[in-house]
Amino acid sequence: LSAFGITSNGFLPEEAPIDRLQSPHYEPWETLIRHLPEFLEAGTLRAKVNNLPILPASHLTADAEWRRAYVILCMLTHAYIWGGDTPYEILPPPLTLPLLRVSSHLGLPPVATYASLNLWNFRTTSPTHDFSNLDALQAQHTMTGTPDESWFYMVSVAMEAHAASLIPTMLYALHIAQHHRDNQHATITHALNQLTQCIRELGQLLDRMDENCDPDVFFHRIRPFLAGSRNMAAAGLPRGVFYDEGAGKGEWRTLRGGSNGQSSLVQFFDAVLGVEHTARGGGGGEPALSFHEEVRGYMPAPHRSFLEFVAQMGGGGGMKKAVANLMLVMSETETVELREAFRRATGALTEFRNRHLRIVTRYIVIPSRQQRDGGEVGMGTGVGAGAVNLATVTARAAELTGTGGTALLPFLKQTRDETLRAGDTW
Ligand code: HEM
Ligand code: ALA
Repeated sequence: LSAFGITSNGFLPEEAPIDRLQSPHYEPWETLIRHLPEFLEAGTLRAKVNNLPILPASHLTADAEWRRAYVILCMLTHAYIWGGDTPYEILPPPLTLPLLRVSSHLGLPPVATYASLNLWNFRTTSPTHDFSNLDALQAQHTMTGTPDESWFYMVSVAMEAHAASLIPTMLYALHIAQHHRDNQHATITHALNQLTQCIRELGQLLDRMDENCDPDVFFHRIRPFLAGSRNMAAAGLPRGVFYDEGAGKGEWRTLRGGSNGQSSLVQFFDAVLGVEHTARGGGGGEPALSFHEEVRGYMPAPHRSFLEFVAQMGGGGGMKKAVANLMLVMSETETVELREAFRRATGALTEFRNRHLRIVTRYIVIPSRQQRDGGEVGMGTGVGAGAVNLATVTARAAELTGTGGTALLPFLKQTRDETLRAGDTW
C-alpha cells in the first residue's frame, strides 16, 4: 500500500502535515499564507502577491515540503483570483512559476484540489494523533479565517481517517475473491458488512457538517473561493485563467475547482462495489471521460494509480474486473448472505449519497434561492460588497454549477442512481 501513497491513515499522510517550510527563502510565502484572511479582508492580498519575489522550488526537500508548498500556492492562487470585487483572470509569474513547478512534481493540476484543501491542510490536538477525532482537528489555513471553513475541510479529513482500516480489509476480500478459494464467502461477506457499517458511520460524520459550518457562511463567503476556472464564464472568467509565466509566455487554462468529488476514498468504494459512473462533468473536458474518471487527474498521482490497480485486480482488462470477481464468487456459491451483504453495502453507499444531496440542498440550493428571492445580489455578504463571484452568479443562474464544474443536482442524482443500480445487479 505504501507504494500507492496509502498510510495507516488511508489517503491522508502518516503524520500531520508540517506547518512551516524550513528554508528561510520561503518566508514571503509563509507570511502571506499565515495572514491570508486579514490581507483579503483589507483588500491588500493582490498587491502583496504582485510584489512577491519569484522563488525557485529548489529549496524544497522532503515530500512534506513539496506538499506544503502546493497547499500554500493553491490557496494563494484562489485568493488572488477571487479575492476582490471582480475575479482576476491573469495569474502573475510569482505565483504561476512555482505553482506549475510544484504541481507537476506532485502530479497534480495547478489549482486548489481536495489534496491542497483537505488531505494536506490539517493539524490535530489529539494526544494519540487520531485524525478521525473531528473535534480535535483544525485546518492549517483558510481563506476566510472562519471556524466554518475549517470545519468544512475537517469533516472530510475525519472521514478519510475513519475509513482507513477498511482499505486493507476490502483489498483482502477482493484478493481472495480473485483466487476463487473455497469457503471464501464468509470472509467476503464479513468484509462487505464492515464496509456497510463504515459507510453508515461516514454518513453520521457527514451529518455533523451542521454543527460548525453555517450554510449561509458557506454559500456566501467560503464557496466563492473554491470555484475553479471551468464553466465560470458567468462568474467573470470567460476564457478561464491565464497562467502568466513572464517573458511573453503563458497559457489559458480551464480547470475544475476544489471538490470533495476528488476524494479517492469514495471512488475506492465505487471500485470495490462495481459502481459505474457515466455522467459527463460538463464544459470542455475530455468528452470520452466521465466526471469521476476525469477527477482522478486531480488526485495525487499514487492514489490515482491505486484506483486503477483496484479496478484491474482481476488480472488486467476491464475497469470492473475487481468487482467482476466478487460477483463471480457470488454467482458460483449462491450464498444468500453474500448477496445480501453486497446489496446492503451498495444500499449504504446510495444512502450516503442521498445524505450528501440533502446537504447540497441546504448549503447551496436554499441559500441561492433566498438570495435571489431577496432580490439583492451581492448584498455585502460575499467576498466584498457587490462582488461578482460564484455566490452572486449561482443566485442569478437558472441552473446551478458546482465548484467542480458540474451541473450539480442532475449530476449528483445520476451518481446516486448509478450506485443504486450496482446493487440491483444482484
Ligand atoms: C460532489 C457539494 C461536502 C463528497 C459534490 C458536488 C457538489 C458538492 C456541488 C458536485 C461536484 C461539483 O461540481 O463540485 C457539497 C457541499 C458540501 C459537501 C455543499 C458541504 C457543505 C462533502 C463531503 C464529502 C463529499 C464532506 C465527503 C466525502 C462528495 C463526492 C462528490 C461530491 C464524493 C462526487 C459525487 C459522488 O461521487 O457522489 N459535492 N459537498 N462532499 N461531494 Fe460534496
Ligand atoms: N463542490 C462544492 C460546491 O460546489 C464545494 O459547492
